[in-house]
Amino acid sequence: MGSKEHENLLNMIKANAVPTHVAVVPDGNGRWARKRGLPRIAGHRAGIETLKRIVRTAGDIGIPYFTLFAFSTENWKRPEAEVSGLLDLLREYLDSGIEQNRENGVRIRVIGRRQGLSRDLIRAIERAEAETAACDRLNFQVAFNYGGRAEIMDAVNTVCSLIRAGKIAVALDEKDFSSLLYTAGMPDPDLIIRSSGELRLSNFMLWQSAYAEFVSCPLLWPDFSPEEFCSCILEYQRRDRRFGGIKAP
Ligand code: IPE
Ligand code: MG
Repeated sequence: MGSKEHENLLNMIKANAVPTHVAVVPDGNGRWARKRGLPRIAGHRAGIETLKRIVRTAGDIGIPYFTLFAFSTENWKRPEAEVSGLLDLLREYLDSGIEQNRENGVRIRVIGRRQGLSRDLIRAIERAEAETAACDRLNFQVAFNYGGRAEIMDAVNTVCSLIRAGKIAVALDEKDFSSLLYTAGMPDPDLIIRSSGELRLSNFMLWQSAYAEFVSCPLLWPDFSPEEFCSCILEYQRRDRRFGGIKAP
C-alpha cells in the first residue's frame, strides 16, 4: 500500500489486540463535494474510492469483520436524485467489485431491509453475496437501508410471529435475540469509527454497539485514508475496556 507512514503505522498495530469487528459510519461526502463546487453525488463517488482502500487495509491488518453504514432507513428523506445516485452506486460497487473482492478474500453481505429496493438491486446483492460466499479473509457487511430500530423491530416482529405459530417458548435471552438480528452469527463491533467529526450513532447498530469503543475522526470521508484508519486502530488499542467490570488489580 505505498506510503512509508502507512507501513510504520501498520507495524505499530499489536497483532494480538486487533479488533474483531470494526464498523464505520462514513460521513462528510456531501461537505467534501460542496467544498469543491461539485454535486453531492461526486462526494459519494469519491467515498467509494476511500472505501476500497479501507477494505484493503482492514484485510492487511487482519480484521475479520468490517461493516460500513452505507445508507440508512432515514436517508430516503434526501432529494430523489441523491437517493437514486446512491442506489446506483451500490449496484455499481457490487457488480464491479466482485472480482477484486474475491481476489482479496472478501466476503460481502448486505444487511438491512430488502423491502423498498428494486428487483435489479436485490439481484445484484444476491449475486455479490453468492459469488463471495466462500471467501474467508475478511467479512465485509454493507449496511444498506439499515436502521438500528428497524432491525430491532424486525426481530421483535419475528418473535411475535413465532409465538403466534406456537414455535417458541416466550422467554428469550440476549443470545437468542441477537440471532434474530441482521448480524446473526457475527460478533458485536469492538470499534465504531465515524468520520467528519460528528459524534452521533445515527441509529447504527443500536443493540450491537453496547460496548463498542467510539472513535471520531475529523476528516471528511473522501479524505479518510489508510493511515487514518491505522491511527483509529491504534487509538482503540490504547483504550481500557472493562465491560462494566473493574481493572484487574
Ligand atoms: C455520508 O456523507 C454518505 C452516506 C452514507 C449517505 P453525507 O452525505 O452524510 O455527507 P454530509 O454529511 O452531507 O457532508
Ligand atoms: Mg452526513
